[in-house]
Amino acid sequence: MAVRQKTASSKSEIRKGGSEIQPAKGKLGIMIPGMGAVATTFVAGVEAVRKGFARPIGSLTQMGTIRLGKRTDNNSPAIKNFVPLAKLSDLVFTGWDIFEDDMYTAASKAGVLERDLLQQVKPFLTSIKPRKAVFDRSYVRKLDGPNLKKGKNKMELAQQVREDIREFKKSSGADRLVTIWCGSTETFLQPTQAHKDVQSFEKAMMKNDQNVAPSMIYCYASLMEGVPFANGAPNLTADLPAMLELSRKNEAPICGKDFKTGQTLMKTILAPGFKARLLGVSGWYSTNILGNRDGEVLDDPGSFKTKEESKLGVLEHILQPALYPELYKNIFHKVRINYYPPRGDNKEGWDNIDIFGWLGYPMQIKVDFLCRDSILAAPIVLDLVLFLDLAKRSSELSGLGIQEWLSFYFKSPMTIPGLYPEHDLFIQSMKLKNTLRHLRGEELITHLGLEYYD
Ligand SMILES: NC(=O)c1ccc[n+]([C@@H]2O[C@H](COP(=O)([O-])OP(=O)(O)OC[C@H]3O[C@@H](n4cnc5c(N)ncnc54)[C@H](O)[C@@H]3O)[C@@H](O)[C@H]2O)c1
Repeated sequence: MAVRQKTASSKSEIRKGGSEIQPAKGKLGIMIPGMGAVATTFVAGVEAVRKGFARPIGSLTQMGTIRLGKRTDNNSPAIKNFVPLAKLSDLVFTGWDIFEDDMYTAASKAGVLERDLLQQVKPFLTSIKPRKAVFDRSYVRKLDGPNLKKGKNKMELAQQVREDIREFKKSSGADRLVTIWCGSTETFLQPTQAHKDVQSFEKAMMKNDQNVAPSMIYCYASLMEGVPFANGAPNLTADLPAMLELSRKNEAPICGKDFKTGQTLMKTILAPGFKARLLGVSGWYSTNILGNRDGEVLDDPGSFKTKEESKLGVLEHILQPALYPELYKNIFHKVRINYYPPRGDNKEGWDNIDIFGWLGYPMQIKVDFLCRDSILAAPIVLDLVLFLDLAKRSSELSGLGIQEWLSFYFKSPMTIPGLYPEHDLFIQSMKLKNTLRHLRGEELITHLGLEYYD
């Protein structure tokens, strides 16, 4: 069993064989660019759980356990007792949005949570008002709003976001901060010379370069302040050499992209199963109808292209057609998203999967997932902010930049250049839990299991 130790110089905690982690003392400030459906469902949910009238279902940090040692040891502590995470009671919030609605009004308009539940957390949600946003319509063509920052160039806007961050830290009394992008999906961009390092990025901001999207400005500002940053949308944002450089330099961990909810979650559950059993896949047609603002934004071809890229990569990486050409080389993979207002946030995702088995005989699988997107996304937001804060306090993780162990939560996980991402949900889950075991000096679990039969 691991032994807890305290170092003499700092109050950080190290378990024998594990790494140094600063304690989660004081308040943790959560800063959210984009106070829409996901953000409000998350914050309202945290408050409801704190008040004791709802349960944090879907959250690994709140409900998950982690097995330590042998199966016969019967030792599976709660994750939140195994690693030092911030407590829900210590979370404080702020956000930015292009609309002036406070979180209560925004949550009411998003229509995800029932009126009764919202009423019970109304005073708290009403107290969270959006700061003025960095926004430019050319990156999200379907949106326009009045609550915007003004500045002569993008660097000046970044300075204003940095001031917001410092102001929030002071006024909320937060000891530590984390930023999580829950803003709309921006139009498709690719990495360019402007993103190649911090110096080029700063020059590009000064010149109002079109390659610098608003989400990148929040990311830059956060990293400059030493604040970890997670990206819940498929935009490039943090997935750039300049941001990786800054993240490492300022020990502000980053992760992304695109919360893994709904249809892609199902895909990364099913596809590993087909591959494990060597069942071929000739086609996978996925279509969605959704009627929330996210759906409206994705109705624009530029924003859809960003989302499409994020969703399409999944099967390629899981099925590995280069290794299994007979089974997966000719797969026809199509993803559609259709804006259909009557459904609101209650999306319907259909999948038609054409598979083939022994001697090439074809079969079909149909999945009809009537899901609630923001209900699936909210626990992801919670886990990410708590784990990113843990990474920031960990001597081993804080300087790494990308936190690949958090791939579990993303459709399009970030990795360092040249390394392909792991999309298989079960590998991702093992990677996450083994990272926690490693941090605490516990043996990694390989599932070999021969020792039971010695
Ligand atoms: N809901 C899910 O399950 C899910 C899953 C994966 C990814 N996402 C992504 O998460 C993001 C949020 O989703 P949502 O359903 O909450 O969308 P939403 O439209 O309800 O909320 C997005 C909010 O961001 C604001 N916004 C846009 N640009 C901004 C800027 N530059 N600065 C500040 N605010 C800005 C919008 O005004 C809006 O209020 C989207 O990019 C979506 O694609 C959502």
